[in-house]
Amino acid sequence: MTLINAVGIDDIAIYSPGHYYDLADLAAAHGIDPAKYTKGIGQERMAVPSPDEDIVTMAANAVAPLLSDGVRDAVSTVIFATESGIDQSKSAGLFVHGVLGLRPNCRVVEFKQACYGATAGIQFACDLVRQRPAEKVLIIASDIARYERGSEGECTQGAGAVAMVVSANPRLIEIHPQSGLFSLDVMDFWRPNHRSAALVDGKLSIDVYLRSLTEAWADFRRKGGLPLDAVDKLCFHQPFTKMAKKAFGALAEAAGPEAAHLGEASYADSQVYGRLIGNTYSASLYIGLCSLLDNCAENLGGRTIGLFSYGSGSVGEFFTATVRPSYRRYLRADAHRTMLDARQRLDDATYAAWFYEVPKQVEDRALPQEAAGRFRLAAVEEQRRVYEEAIPEAQLVPLQAVA
Ligand code: COA
Repeated sequence: MTLINAVGIDDIAIYSPGHYYDLADLAAAHGIDPAKYTKGIGQERMAVPSPDEDIVTMAANAVAPLLSDGVRDAVSTVIFATESGIDQSKSAGLFVHGVLGLRPNCRVVEFKQACYGATAGIQFACDLVRQRPAEKVLIIASDIARYERGSEGECTQGAGAVAMVVSANPRLIEIHPQSGLFSLDVMDFWRPNHRSAALVDGKLSIDVYLRSLTEAWADFRRKGGLPLDAVDKLCFHQPFTKMAKKAFGALAEAAGPEAAHLGEASYADSQVYGRLIGNTYSASLYIGLCSLLDNCAENLGGRTIGLFSYGSGSVGEFFTATVRPSYRRYLRADAHRTMLDARQRLDDATYAAWFYEVPKQVEDRALPQEAAGRFRLAAVEEQRRVYEEAIPEAQLVPLQAVA
């Protein structure tokens, strides 16, 4: 029998569209003080998908850099977490499977529970790998966060994807087996099937988020999870970065002296990407984790991170992970920064057309190339989505920083 030393995240990459809308422009359009968004909400920009981008193209662009031959051969399961599904029946993961030519001998499934789905994927993946250590599991989270035009939620929109490989003896972080859970049937955020924009009771969602955090953390401690004084960094689900500040305050109050050594510096690096991308629902916590690993100047090797995942409706989960000693060699920080720096700013009319008019198009159509990424949606033919590789791999700036 193979001895497993650790199970966790072996590789991670993020993708966000090549266009953004600046929240200063949104503030001007609505006659609001921009400081409400930059300081009060903690957001600067929202990523905006072009008409030829969707959750599948964002996902394929995030996954592609992870696909070494060893990963392709060992992936037994693909879990695609999203709440922006493009089909009521077929898993978005199967489109990615086709676009990227993954091997046929694997299972592919879509997970949904608002912003929480990817964490269910990670936990299921860790247990699969604990049972069969030679296998790897590909977790993808990809979402477009869309609220009504002119609503309070509009400033917290965004789009992006994260892809992770879960394996035995991971190179980046080891996920500990304990986790604390809290679920509640509540209507704080929902999106009926006929709508492209979510409905939200924003204030209620903040209250339930904070209650879920303290309840999940208490459950975690009851089950023998690490005390907070053994935790060095924190990473919270971030629908907007100010939420991490609220979360930290609630957790520190609940934990009392256990949290005395923790302050804003414990979660600040996890907010860098989110401020520039906006909410990415199921991907948000893991884009935050990637942001922490990529942007923290301290060497996090051997340090412990506390993570809180929240999905409205609602499920909360608190768990911990330890960063592996050589993690820095396997990060793609330069590629992520290059991608975010290269984005183009959209004017108000283009943002509104792309974000609000495109989802209403249901007819067959060919799509002109606007996407900056390698993969794009080329057409809808007989109600079938047709994807293509728009930019051949050879022409891309290398995304691999892997030694
Ligand atoms: N300068 C600086 N800060 C300002 C400001 C200004 N001119 N004007 C307002 N603010 C601050 C407020 O004090 C408030 O700070 P606080 O939360 O620390 O008290 C913050 O900006 C937000 O202001 P508020 O009036 O509460 O915003 P809102 O009523 O427009 O709604 C949300 C904010 C987050 C509820 C809304 O964007 C939303 O519904 N988002 C989607 C749901 C969501 O993301 N939920 C999170 C849990 S999953």
